[in-house]
Amino acid sequence: MSFARHPDAVHVRAPGKINVYLGVGPRHDDGYHALATVFQAVSLYEDVYASASDDFSIAVVGDVDISGVPLDDRNLALRAAKLLAQTAGVTQGVHLDIRKGVPVAGGMGGGSADAAAALVACDALWGTELGPRGLHELAARLGADVPFALHGGTAVGTGRGDVLTPALARGRFDWVLVLSDTGLSTPEVYGRLDKLRMHGEALADDPTELLEVPVAVLQALRAGDATELAPVMMNDLEAAAVVGRPDLELTLADGVRMGALTGIVSGSGPTTAFLCGGPEAARAVQDELKATGREALHVHGPVPGAQIIG
Ligand code: C5P
Repeated sequence: MSFARHPDAVHVRAPGKINVYLGVGPRHDDGYHALATVFQAVSLYEDVYASASDDFSIAVVGDVDISGVPLDDRNLALRAAKLLAQTAGVTQGVHLDIRKGVPVAGGMGGGSADAAAALVACDALWGTELGPRGLHELAARLGADVPFALHGGTAVGTGRGDVLTPALARGRFDWVLVLSDTGLSTPEVYGRLDKLRMHGEALADDPTELLEVPVAVLQALRAGDATELAPVMMNDLEAAAVVGRPDLELTLADGVRMGALTGIVSGSGPTTAFLCGGPEAARAVQDELKATGREALHVHGPVPGAQIIG
């Protein structure tokens, strides 16, 4: 399915992300957890086309299953457009056409990428010129992962994940993603981690006292060395995502057996991400995973954040 292109439409592309490292601290009163994370934007994209309209509307198509995407005010891209209009005093509306390439409820920040792309597209369409700082502020109000989708590349996220510091990453990292038919709810996965920790389950470690990204992770990224990065990757949400989804554990073991350097659950899951030694190794792992009937994609990172196309 394709969209009828409007002559004065703005096309923005924003990437999905992998959390190369995800340390989760205690839950705060606002319901959010303190994080020490490293995001990497990867070559799986959301395309948002914003065209002038009197009111606010949205249409979604996808290379992935889009049945879980709301088309009302629960949609983060629509909320982003309305927040920008309200903040900048814009009286026009917008029609958003979204083509989703990032799995829905997959732990790769697809909804956040839509919101980031909608902010950049509407800012250009309406000429509001909020600048990077203004857009970042609105992004952080929309969700913890939205600022990173604006910035892209590789970055350390602290606070709720919305306080970003760019991280140096040399070269390119090759990843194989295994998609899942059914999504996982991010708040539910965080809630499950709290419960596992409360009940002292061996599966989930207590919140790390020193919540910071290990130097070894930053060094491996700086060196552009996947072999160095693999053993220091970690995701505190993995135990909570895997509960009730034993298939994820099997997938993780299979990917490594097939030649990946390591595999982790991406963010709150259920997408799994396998770091490979290079493009050829990744293609081989992808082929073997596909041969078992799984949907496997080969992507690379880092890639830029939300960008106007054309
Ligand atoms: O900010 P966003 O809407 O993407 O977050 C979705 C949910 O994930 C939050 O409502 C919260 O339950 C959980 N979350 C969290 N701590 C974070 C980020 C997200 O508990 N740092």
